[in-house]
Formats: sequence, C-alpha cells, structure tokens
Amino acid sequence: MGGNRQLADRLAAAGQGHLIEVLAHATPADAAALTAQLDELDLELIARLVGQFVGHDEVASAAGPLAPPNAVPLARGPADEVRDRTARAAGEAALRAGHVGLVLLAGGQGTRLGFNGPKGNFPFGPVTGMTLFAHHAAKVAAVRTRYDADLPWCILTSPANDAVTRAAFADAAWFGLDPDSVRFVVQGTLPAVDSATGQLLLEAPGRLALSPDGHGGLFLALRRSGTLDWLADRGVQTMFTFQVDNPLTSIADPEFLGYHLGAGSDMSNLAVRKREPGERVGVIARRGDQTIVVEYSDLDDATAAARDAAGELVLWAGNVATHFIEAEFARRLTDDGLRLPYHRAIKKVPYLAASGRTVVPDDPNAMKFETFIFDALPIARASITVEIPRAAQFSPIKNATGSDSPESCRRDMNRLYAGWLEAAGVVVAHDDDGEPVDVELDPRLALDAADVRTRLAGHAPIDRPTALSAPWLATRLGDADLAR
Ligand code: UTP
Repeated sequence: MGGNRQLADRLAAAGQGHLIEVLAHATPADAAALTAQLDELDLELIARLVGQFVGHDEVASAAGPLAPPNAVPLARGPADEVRDRTARAAGEAALRAGHVGLVLLAGGQGTRLGFNGPKGNFPFGPVTGMTLFAHHAAKVAAVRTRYDADLPWCILTSPANDAVTRAAFADAAWFGLDPDSVRFVVQGTLPAVDSATGQLLLEAPGRLALSPDGHGGLFLALRRSGTLDWLADRGVQTMFTFQVDNPLTSIADPEFLGYHLGAGSDMSNLAVRKREPGERVGVIARRGDQTIVVEYSDLDDATAAARDAAGELVLWAGNVATHFIEAEFARRLTDDGLRLPYHRAIKKVPYLAASGRTVVPDDPNAMKFETFIFDALPIARASITVEIPRAAQFSPIKNATGSDSPESCRRDMNRLYAGWLEAAGVVVAHDDDGEPVDVELDPRLALDAADVRTRLAGHAPIDRPTALSAPWLATRLGDADLAR
C-alpha cells in the first residue's frame, strides 16, 4: 500500500532498510505498532546522527583556550549566615512576588545507582526511609510557606517512568501539596542504534528501543506540553531547575536568585570547587565570551591540572547542574525546534536479534543520543556562576557505593544537620570516628541553620538516630503554625 511504500522509501533513504524486512515478517499487530512508532520518528535526524557519530569519535564542537567562569561566591559564613544582603533581598522579593517556578529533573534512568524505578522513589532517609520525591516535596512546601507564594512545581519525567512517578505522588496525596500546583512534563525519547552499524534496535517485536533524549530535552518538553504557557499564566518569569538525586539542594536559594537577576542572566549556574584535577565532574568555563560546560572526558590532563599564581585550579568550577533559567530564554531556544547539539553515549541495550531472540549484551553494544541542559549556556546572552560550599548544598546520589552514593550522602547530610543543631546549642552524639549520629530534619520544620536556631534551640541532646519532623514542632507551636 501507498503508506507502506512511503515508509519503506523513508527507511531505505535513512539507511534503515533492515526494518522493511522486519515489518514484512511481523504479525499485523506488531507491524502496526512499529509503523506508528516509525511515523513519529524524525528519520532524517537519526540518519544525520548516525552519519555524525557511528564510526567516528565525538569531537569537541569548538576549540580555544579555557578560562574560569564569571563567578561570585555565595557569601555565606560558617554558621550559614548571609553576608550579601542586597542579592538576598532581590531574590526574596522575586520569590514573594511569585515570579519563580520550580523544575525538578527526574526523567533519567539512574542506571549507575541500579535502583528499580524512578530515582525519586529511592528511600534515602537514614532514619525514616523517606524518598527523594518526599524530601523535595517537603522542601517545596517549606519554601512556598516561607515566601507565602505559589511557586508552581514542574517535574520532568520520561515515558519509561512517568506513570510510576505520578502514582508515587497520587499515593502520597501529593505529599500535602495542592495537586493543581504540581505538573508532570514528559520528555521526549530518541532511539538506540547498533553502535557498529547504526541500525535502529528493537526491544520487542513491534517496539523500537527508545531512551530519554537527555536533560536538554527539558526545553522542548516544556514548550511542546504547553508548560511554558502554564507557568506564564501563573506569573512565572524565572525557573529554578534542580536534579532529583541531590537532596542537599537549597531550592530557589534567594541569594543565588539575586545574583542571577542582578547580572541580567538568561541562565545561571551553581558550582563547587573541584576536589582534585581528575574529579569526574563537568567543568564550567569561559571560552571567548561564551560560558560553556566541558565534560570531564573532554578535558586533557594538563588543562585540568593547570593552577593559577595562588596555586588554585584554573578550571575549578565543578558543575552542580542546578540553574536559574529565564522562561523567555527557554522560549527563544525552542522557537525553531531545539537549538542544542547532540551527544552520543555507548551503552548496553538488550535487543531483539534477527533470529527473534532477545540478546542481553555483556558489553556495550548500542549508541544512544542525548542533548544536555548546559549546552544552552553558550546561547545565553549573559550567564553568571555562583560558587557554593559543597558540604552545604551538594551530595548527589549517583552510584550504588563509594563516592556520590547513598552512604556518602547520608554522611554529608548528618554532618550538615548536626552542624546546624550544634550551632543552635543542641548536643549531638558522635561515634568513635567523629561522625554524628544519623539525624534527619524535615524541611518543613527547618530549611536552614536559621530555622534550626529559632525552632530547635533547647531541644534535648540527640544521642541516637533521630528524625526531627513537623510533629515535634507542633507540640511547641501548636498545629496552626504548621498548617499555613
Ligand atoms: P544523570 O546524568 O545523573 O543521569 O542525570 P541519570 O539517568 O539520572 O543516571 P545514570 O547516568 O543513568 O546513572 C542528572 C539529572 O538529570 C535528570 C536525572 O533524572 C537527574 O536528575 N535527567 C537525566 C533527565 O531528567 N532526563 C534525562 O534524559 C537524563
């Protein structure tokens, strides 16, 4: 039939002729399902990506000397007191005016952690087993209360985890948030191809092997789903984007926001000082008048290790992947399709072989394509980077063990919360290695050291694993204060 002929021609032209054969031998139902998927697919884009990446190394898009980014340190003292009151006041005013939307990136696959399900469902709380979603939701609630503002919350999901993510929120009654103030946005997908031949892989007889199109997919997803309009209708001008796997995130930090607004920035970044030249973290840098993020794998050893006269790493700025982004900038970026470059990743992807058998490969066999959120930076008209102390705001859960794991996050969280409590005069027990006992703070009870000082001074010594939650506060203040 004409439709089939057309599809066959498109497949042949895109170098995917093997699928004509597959369609010819498929059951009618499988053929229909696969045809529907292929009709949705931009085969020309796939042909372009295969031509660019299969059989070639990924080349850095530009060359030239790298300099440190335009950066300011978050002016916090040791007890978390604020020193730059001007920036903070500007940020607080924007928050109180409701000009800020919150955007959680939760569409990833979390393969390194190896947890079955959306990473947001990972029960990271050492005492309560609280999930990452529950923790972020509690923080969103606390920030809304603090500024008495709506601050709508968007959650980026992917087709693979969208239903489970929505169910987690519904089952928990949206963690006490107004369901109308939370919106799920599903990012797009791109197909995986055989890394040697560029042929599209099938995951089942009538189904291509698809994966999320990378966190850069946020922009198109926000645009196509009407979410930029939804945010605009709610008065949002600036979006705070954060990652599901960093429970230490200071959501919509007012001082960071103040710097972003003061610099007239389209997109701003948080950075931590790299621990050592070889740390596996992207680096925020300047090339010419553009801000860029260079992946650690693209930095040669000498450049990564270069030091300035004071002995500090020149390229010190490790990317925390947390941003303020102007909604107008997201619109501009997507006015004409997506204006971000594609990257490739070589991964293990199970696939249906020509024999009809599913093969689970031992070695990476497939190429996936992704865009990255930080590739929007060079297009930004202005960008500012704000340095944060790592211990206070950054301890991501990426790996199952070792660094950036549930264990390291638990240690960092204990140290942070114990520090806040001790600054408020609360005695916290430490073990023989000097590590504080497990202590969890409900963000609705205390978002920072100042909240701990006003709300928890006078608390009894903490000598065993303890979760300090809103009910403890209720006994002191009465429920009315908590219900705001
Ligand atoms: P990572 O780069 O750590 O990827 O994502 P990941 O998929 O979560 O984990 P690995 O690499 O498979 O182990 C950083 C953040 O970006 C989000 C993730 O959910 C996480 O918050 N992300 C990543 C998306 O929202 N979409 C994507 O396509 C990729």
